[in-house]
Amino acid sequence: VAHELNTPIGNSLLMASTLQERTSDIAARFDSASLRRSDLADYMSASREASSLIMRSLHNAAELVNSFRQVSVDQASAQRRRFDLARACQEIAATLMNTVRLGRHRLELAVAPGIVMDSFPGPLGQVVINFVNNALLHAFEGPGGSMVLEAALRDGSVRMVFRDDGRGIPQEHQSRIFDPFFTTRMGQGGSGLGLNITWNIVTTLLGGTVRVESSPGQGTAFIVELPLRAPDPQAQGEVPAPAPFVAADGR
Ligand SMILES: Nc1ncnc2c1ncn2[C@@H]1O[C@H](COP(=O)(O)OP(=O)(O)OP(=O)(O)O)[C@@H](O)[C@H]1O
Ligand SMILES: [Mg+2]
Repeated sequence: VAHELNTPIGNSLLMASTLQERTSDIAARFDSASLRRSDLADYMSASREASSLIMRSLHNAAELVNSFRQVSVDQASAQRRRFDLARACQEIAATLMNTVRLGRHRLELAVAPGIVMDSFPGPLGQVVINFVNNALLHAFEGPGGSMVLEAALRDGSVRMVFRDDGRGIPQEHQSRIFDPFFTTRMGQGGSGLGLNITWNIVTTLLGGTVRVESSPGQGTAFIVELPLRAPDPQAQGEVPAPAPFVAADGR
């Protein structure tokens, strides 16, 4: 079990034990007939708060377990192959177009033709899907948003840039958006795992880097640099895991 699970599970345990204590306390007052109306009111509000924190934490833990499952399934079934990047991007964009049009936004492709990669098109597609979903969910306040996916060869590697012209990401969030569970949409469908998964796919499986450039009101750009040839899986097992998502003890 990954040690990132410790946070939500630890939080739930803490809350549940507080709840347990408060419950025996109020039960004792009830038994000794010293229960006041205000005790009961306090208890109800504390227990409401504790149970909603527990629900939220366990929801996070469940999401995390799911995403582990997803990532490992994806990686196991990830077919490594040679593929044309422009064609792969077109295929991914085609699957997203309905959603993009529904929100009356635009997604443009500017991928240089003729780039052939020996890598993992499935997980690479997941990366693009996460960027687009994030732009749709976080960047645009109304219809008319515009997104561009560019890719070109630069010094022998692929440089992919995904841009939106949305609200941007505040400076103080930029160093945290790749962390697991960092979300500004807590309780509104966000679990804060999308960019963490993206980061893991890019830096481990694909052997590249990803960073963000944004300023509020000016939109956001995610810059992904990838080798044409993904690292060998054996070599991946040997490098120390750089991802916060991967447990330090390697489990
Ligand atoms: N294009 C964007 N524009 C503005 N903010 C963004 C954009 N992409 C990401 N963010 C910010 O980064 C945070 C983290 O993104 P991430 O994808 O990891 O989590 P999430 O989208 O909130 O939840 P999840 O992807 O797990 O459903 C978001 O909550 C949001 O605040
Ligand atoms: Mg997301």
